[in-house]
Amino acid sequence: TQSLSDLAESLAALGINQIPQAPNTHPTVNPIDVYRSHITDLLVPITGAEPGVIYGALAWTQTLEMGDLALPVPALRLRGRKPGELAEEIASRFPPSPLLEPPVAAGTYVKFWFKPEPLSRLVIPSILKNGAAYGFNRTLGLRDPEDESKGRKKIIVEFSSPNIAKPFHAGHLRSTIIGGFLANLYAGAGWDVVRMNYLGDWGKQYGVLAVGFERFGSEEALVANPIAHLFEVYVKVSAIQKEEDDKMKALREEIAALKEKGEAVEEQEKALAALVNDGIDEQARRYFRRMSDGDPEAIAIWTRFRNLSIEKYRQTYARLNISFDDYSGESQVQDSSMEEAARIMAERGVSEESEGAVIVDLTKYSKKLGKAVVKKKDGTSLYLTRDIGAMKERFDKYNFDKMIYVVAAAQDLHLAQLFKIVELMGFRDISERCQHINFGMVLGMSTRRGTVKFLDDILRDVGEFMHDLMRSNEDKYKQVDDPEGTADILGISAVMVQDMTGKRINNYHFDIKRMTSFEGDTGPYLQYAHARLSSIVRKVGLKPEDLLTADLSLLSEKHATEQEAKHATEQEAKHATKQEAKHAANLVRSLAQFPDVFLNTHRTLEPVTVLTYLFKMTHALSSSYDHLQVMKSDPEVKKARMALYYAARTVLNNGMRLLGLTPLDR
Ligand code: ARG
Repeated sequence: TQSLSDLAESLAALGINQIPQAPNTHPTVNPIDVYRSHITDLLVPITGAEPGVIYGALAWTQTLEMGDLALPVPALRLRGRKPGELAEEIASRFPPSPLLEPPVAAGTYVKFWFKPEPLSRLVIPSILKNGAAYGFNRTLGLRDPEDESKGRKKIIVEFSSPNIAKPFHAGHLRSTIIGGFLANLYAGAGWDVVRMNYLGDWGKQYGVLAVGFERFGSEEALVANPIAHLFEVYVKVSAIQKEEDDKMKALREEIAALKEKGEAVEEQEKALAALVNDGIDEQARRYFRRMSDGDPEAIAIWTRFRNLSIEKYRQTYARLNISFDDYSGESQVQDSSMEEAARIMAERGVSEESEGAVIVDLTKYSKKLGKAVVKKKDGTSLYLTRDIGAMKERFDKYNFDKMIYVVAAAQDLHLAQLFKIVELMGFRDISERCQHINFGMVLGMSTRRGTVKFLDDILRDVGEFMHDLMRSNEDKYKQVDDPEGTADILGISAVMVQDMTGKRINNYHFDIKRMTSFEGDTGPYLQYAHARLSSIVRKVGLKPEDLLTADLSLLSEKHATEQEAKHATEQEAKHATKQEAKHAANLVRSLAQFPDVFLNTHRTLEPVTVLTYLFKMTHALSSSYDHLQVMKSDPEVKKARMALYYAARTVLNNGMRLLGLTPLDR
């Protein structure tokens, strides 16, 4: 990483002899912080405002036409000054600076532009030295920003959380993608991250599954593909359960009708009793009873289903660069935690009896929260009860500073009830640390083979689609070493980028054709941009150490290739030079923003914040290739441009990894 003395040296060379020291300033990892501090220093004497206020008011801009930094003058909160007039005054009294162009007043704003050459000399070395760490800010996770020895904050990110023997549906896919991203984000911010998968693996339906396995299970198929096999068994046994259910209903009606006519019902009653006492439903109830009572045989079989499923999940998650630290699940919640919670709720008058069940009436606090059942008539626990027990257990185990639940918006009410109940139980300090990160639905998620059931199916299908697409270009196809592996990664990128393209809460259409296109803002487009940069890096073969000695002033000067120069008129040459300088400067300005984009993402918790930035940056990049050629230029120019492209590759690589993508080199 870049050291303070490295930075001091770069700054001294630009005529700045003081390293910025404002609180929350991280100039070694964020070049923009140098500018914020510098502008603050110059604005104090002009405005008389507090340095902290000025520093905090300097805002990053969405488009570069707005300047590189903008100061909304009203944010200085200076009484008795008209913001428009003050903006004019700031612009006219601002002293010449080695780092900045003269600022411009625009209404109540002052816009600041960075001088291109000093910016390159600050940003490019910072990227080359920080490498894979550029943009990430590990001080955010420190308990005490001034003292690393006090340790780091801990966060649990609970995500994915599929249900064993049930389809891995779009909600689980989105949770996996968004949760993986959030875990990377907090890790990049220096938090201590626990990635947790809370499996749906408890309830009577797992009694149904066990009974079904006794009938239809195959040991061989289970070992070969536990997830698919258990699902298959579950579908079969559920069908019988449904059939029996219908039959019982019909028998009851028949019996009633016969009785009315005064006819014999013996046979029908016998048939009904057989189903009631020994049908799938009753068998499952008894089986689940054994599981809840801790019957060793029942537990052993179920544990095996669970472990085999987890093994398979692990492999699939690995394809998405995700590994969980804790496979918890509804089955893992201790009875004692739920009993303890029930006791506290009763003692504090949080819960009450209602028609034999136990409920919490939350309408007292908000109509929307409704009434929540926490214990069924038969005394068994519910999804909500298990979540209440689990939250307390997780706190005892991890003592987390924050916990995020990445769950579909369809469960907004469930999580709101959960947080409120835990608060009412007297654990406000715990519930306040919890946050529900929700998201909208995926519409029409089906593939060539019909509706999707498993994560593997989705990934396989998009992978095959990419593979076909790649094969349509014979020449390029032949150049790829591992076409299947590459297609797989491209397909996964396509799915992930499509998912992260809008705000989380938006619904979107699953559209294989659009997401797999190399044109437009897609995953394959980002991969293409990365591979192209990697290819330049490979061909030129210069290392970051070599590139640090590049003369970056060459980025903003004239140097068309000799050949071009020979043929160009003077007019044309001038124009080309201007274009080169502009493209280089825009790309550098874009690269400079990445650390601020990271900070902003840490606030929005929206992957689209990163994605939008990466697309803007790669667009700046692709329009610069024609103007900033590498291979054909003079050695020194080549080196300077290579430093720029190397830095661009680093930023793209870091951004893609933050999102959970695997950047491709070819
Ligand atoms: N397994 C649940 C489902 O598929 C999601 C679990 C969400 N997490 C939680 N703590 N309730 O709907």
